[in-house]
Amino acid sequence: MSIDVTVREIRDDDVDAVIALWHASGVARPWNDPVKDIAFARRRPNSTIMVTEMKGRIVASAMIGEDGHRGWVYYVAAAPEYQGAGLGKSIMTAAENWLRERGVWKVQLLVREGNERVRRFYERLGYHDTRSICFQKIIEPNPLT
Ligand SMILES: CC(C)(COP(=O)(O)OP(=O)(O)OC[C@H]1O[C@@H](n2cnc3c(N)ncnc32)[C@H](O)[C@@H]1OP(=O)(O)O)[C@@H](O)C(=O)NCCC(=O)NCCS
Repeated sequence: MSIDVTVREIRDDDVDAVIALWHASGVARPWNDPVKDIAFARRRPNSTIMVTEMKGRIVASAMIGEDGHRGWVYYVAAAPEYQGAGLGKSIMTAAENWLRERGVWKVQLLVREGNERVRRFYERLGYHDTRSICFQKIIEPNPLT
């Protein structure tokens, strides 16, 4: 892309800007606590958040993790005013490289049913629909771990 940007790992002083980006781009959900999600992704070396900085502003993000089997990407977001300029592609490249460096060979992510726009974005980047259904259950974490 032609805009001068830096892609790097999140820092403590980025947290508010990342949350603002998630709200602006629509990836924040009322049932998820972004402060908790960011802290949880940063607590161990198998997960992190990559951000794109442009002129001192956080304009893109991707949360990345490897669970011992697959790589996962969440909270992929580009600032609305810069969408379509390559930020999404470049943050996904950074996410894939982070996983590659850790030996991960399959990357997965969730797309809400009916979100055709985002589906086309990921297809453009080489992702395909695995025709799987995501099942979920809320469990109480063990406070000692
Ligand atoms: C999805 C999102 C991250 C994409 O970021 P972006 O910066 O707009 O996308 P890019 O400009 O990097 O596009 C990368 C490529 O995908 C293509 N693409 C992007 N959206 C597309 C669409 N709707 N249809 C077809 N192609 C698309 C681009 O043309 C580009 O192709 P190229 O490599 O040939 O130039 C961004 O639109 C966004 O933040 N959306 C709202 C939040 C969201 O829904 N996130 C996903 C959660 S699962």
